Amino acid sequence: MIDPFKRLARKGLFLFDPETAHGMSIAALKSGLVPACQITSDPRLRQIVAGLTFENPLGMAAGYDKNAEVPEALLKLGFGFTEIGTVTPKPQSGNPRPRIFRLVEDEAVINRLGFNNEGHDAAFGRLAALRGGGMIGVNIGANKDSEDRIADYVAGIRRFYSVARYFTANISSPNTPGLRDLQGRESLAVLLSSVLAARDEMAAASGRKIPVFLKIAPDLTEEGMDDIAAEVLSHTLDGLIVSNTTLSRDGLKDQRQAKETGGLSGVPLFEKSTAVLARMRKRVGPDLPIIGVGGVSSAETALEKIRAGADLVQLYSCMVYEGPGLAGDIVRGLSKLLDREKAGSIRELRDTRVDYWAARKV
Ligand SMILES: Cc1cc2nc3c(=O)[nH]c(=O)nc-3n(C[C@H](O)[C@H](O)[C@H](O)COP(=O)(O)O)c2cc1C
Repeated sequence: MIDPFKRLARKGLFLFDPETAHGMSIAALKSGLVPACQITSDPRLRQIVAGLTFENPLGMAAGYDKNAEVPEALLKLGFGFTEIGTVTPKPQSGNPRPRIFRLVEDEAVINRLGFNNEGHDAAFGRLAALRGGGMIGVNIGANKDSEDRIADYVAGIRRFYSVARYFTANISSPNTPGLRDLQGRESLAVLLSSVLAARDEMAAASGRKIPVFLKIAPDLTEEGMDDIAAEVLSHTLDGLIVSNTTLSRDGLKDQRQAKETGGLSGVPLFEKSTAVLARMRKRVGPDLPIIGVGGVSSAETALEKIRAGADLVQLYSCMVYEGPGLAGDIVRGLSKLLDREKAGSIRELRDTRVDYWAARKV
């Protein structure tokens, strides 16, 4: 149940179209008007993943802060990490508006933004100007009109190497035609070799090895998952992010908005993305880090991702419905769940429901 103040704030914001409301929320974070969240650090929530120490396992997913305008303000909301982007080498305007749709009854969002962003230089300038050592990942992609998409990912690694704590190669947006084809076995092999060679070259030059994660779609066949797992395991990739938005429209109440083209996220994506996460955990084994994302709306759903095999969790859409206090609520709620489970750390609960989720028909 959301409280009356939240309900009022939400009603106010929902008077505006979703993209305008998003811009207003970024402006509010920039202005410092959104109060920072008070959470006491809980060592049981600390996670070391791919050599990085995360204060808590909850992150802001890519797409909210595409141009690195408010990463530090997001961390102050209680997130243990945040991911800027997707950024592409050149600025691009994306698809025509309207291109974000709220499915209020479903607590879901459909977007077909198409990587609208200000390009590498703008985001790099903002990140380079930050002084704090916040846990900020950089999500990289390819321009729509690029003649060599893989070169765009390589350019992202090179451009952001000095400011990223980790990279995400996003090959799973449904809104750039043909992008998801990079998930196919042969293309993926070339992508991973090129991106990881660029990373290794930068690591040798700088003495710092920045982890690279790969973000995949939830709309994969069993064979598609086998191919991705095989390629991931034969390269030195540091982890997977599961998952991006779905093309599925199963089980939605808002049939009118469901007809909009684009990727669906929020509550209806939870089951599918969690099942794919568990299936990938079974395929890649216990050692590869996985970040679970899709429909996280509460401490319980965040913990369920961890039980299904995630080391870390991210969210975006449910913050549209629950407001900026959601991150703090989830982090505090996770501590309470650990008390209830008498668990000494988040890691103890990882994988405790992999079989259940992997067998789930979605
Ligand atoms: C409006 C919007 C824009 C997004 N843009 C990106 C993006 O640029 N890059 C990316 O990797 N994912 C993007 N995503 C996907 C999210 O990062 C996340 O994977 C997905 O929404 C599932 O999580 P959720 O259900 O918590 O929103 C976007 C999602 C939304 C709703």
